[in-house]
Amino acid sequence: MRTKTTFTRFIIEDLRKLPEATGEFTLLLNAIVTACKEIADDVNRGQLINVLGSAKTENIQGETQKKLDVISNDVILRSLEWSGHLGGMASEEMEEAYPIPSRYPKGKYLLVFDPLDGSSNTEVNVSIGTIFSILRCPEGIEEPTEEDFLQPGSRQVCAGYVLYGPATNLVLTTGQGVNGFTLDRDIGEFILTHRKLSIPDQTSEFAINMANQRHWEPAIKRYIDEVVAGEDGPRGRNFNTRWVASMVAEVHRILMRGGIFLYPMDSRENVQEGRLRLLYEANPMGFIIEQAGGIASTGRQRLMEVKPNRLHQRVPVIIGAKEEVERVELYHSLMDQERSDSTPPHRQEAKQA
Ligand code: AHG
Ligand code: MN
Ligand code: MN
Repeated sequence: MRTKTTFTRFIIEDLRKLPEATGEFTLLLNAIVTACKEIADDVNRGQLINVLGSAKTENIQGETQKKLDVISNDVILRSLEWSGHLGGMASEEMEEAYPIPSRYPKGKYLLVFDPLDGSSNTEVNVSIGTIFSILRCPEGIEEPTEEDFLQPGSRQVCAGYVLYGPATNLVLTTGQGVNGFTLDRDIGEFILTHRKLSIPDQTSEFAINMANQRHWEPAIKRYIDEVVAGEDGPRGRNFNTRWVASMVAEVHRILMRGGIFLYPMDSRENVQEGRLRLLYEANPMGFIIEQAGGIASTGRQRLMEVKPNRLHQRVPVIIGAKEEVERVELYHSLMDQERSDSTPPHRQEAKQA
């Protein structure tokens, strides 16, 4: 008889290989996954249960929240706060870190999450997702504050996402490769369907919001001009564009068939540091992409080495196929070199001081 590997079995067997792994981590992951199954159900029923549309409230980023943003955030808080595995949680939808209520035991991990990524797509029945990242709660900290969450992505214990698309997929890394699961709704379990995902070094597919072109830095303009020029330009071959406006869906496509995704910084107000948030969007996706053999960069630095300075910090994101991301990094360094060469020497000294 063919045995399906359920998510629970996979993590128990996988984590057994790690000497420091405890049952606590397995239980935490299971609780996160149960919360995402509940969100998947809400997303799936949508208008039938009146969960689509605007909540008419604003989050800390000044974005109007969708009903599903608020519901998904609540589902995750309620599903995790009692578990005893967490010291605290933080999310896109909450201004401050969420402390574990005093009636519940505390645990040694911190959870940061984007409860619903791509929520502009909820009404149009296009794929959306949940992104999460697990960090260690600093030793001896009972009541973590914002400071305790400000860890670089390289310190993540685990990162994952759940994609609510035609099928519901869970993709996860604990630092030993990336594995993908598909929700079998008949039995209510995620089944291992994609072992050890890997991203090809080369690609002819890119994802960027072209409407922002006039706001980009020269390095991004150069890269995109060259790929758009196709076989008539310096790249000598044709490229293809995709833009879903749900990062989870873009990353999933890159894991399945390759590609590069860019959300660079640009000159618009609010996007001068980038659009995507470091702690709960860029870092978890960066960890997954690197574990699948791709590169995750800001254009100037490895994403996972950026030292966060606040919970909702934004960052430029350039991730995916190794050769393409390296090329974008090269264009950034050439641009920066050119800028510093054209800066008068007295100004350069001032800059360095
Ligand atoms: P969120 O729905 O959590 O705010 O995130 C949406 C993000 C990301 O998923 C997507 O890549 C990007 O915003 C789309 O932004 P534009 O609307 O600027 O294209
Ligand atoms: Mn998001
Ligand atoms: Mn979101």
